[in-house]
Amino acid sequence: MMLALAACGGTSGGSATPKAPAATAASESNPAYVKAQELFTANKCISCHGVDLEGKVGVKTNLQKVGSKLSSEQIANQIKNGGGGMPVYKTKLSEEEIGLLTDWLSSKK
Ligand code: HEC
Repeated sequence: MMLALAACGGTSGGSATPKAPAATAASESNPAYVKAQELFTANKCISCHGVDLEGKVGVKTNLQKVGSKLSSEQIANQIKNGGGGMPVYKTKLSEEEIGLLTDWLSSKK
C-alpha cells in the first residue's frame, strides 16, 4: 500500500484514518537489531564487513547469510576471539553486546 506520500493531498478531504506509520518494516525495527547495527557501526565491523554485510576483505567477510552458515555459538566465538584477520572483541564488548550482535547476525539467512 503506497500511502506514504499521501500527506498533503487535501482535495477531496479525509479518507478514513490511514494506518499509523509506526508499525512498518518489521524486522529491522526490532529494537535489539537496531542496537546491534549501531554496535556493528561503532565497533568498525563495517570497515571489514561492509554496511550491507557484503564483505570488504574477501568472501569470508560477507555476512549476508552468516546465520545459515554458522551456529550462533560459532558466531559468538568468532566475535569474541577473532582470528583469520579479525580482531579479538571480547576485551572490547560486553557479553550482552556480543549477544546482541550474535542474535542479529544469526537472523541473516
Ligand atoms: C579488521 C577487519 C575485521 C573487523 C574490524 C571485523 N571483522 Fe569479522 N571477520 C574478518 C575476517 C577477515 C573474517 C574471516 C575470518 C576467517 O577467515 O576465518 C571475519 C569473520 C567474521 C565472522 C564469521 C564469518 C564466517 O563466515 O566465518 C563473523 C560472524 C564476524 N566476522 C563478525 C564481526 C563483527 C560482529 C565485528 C565487529 C564487532 C567484526 N566481525 C569485525 C575481519 C574483520
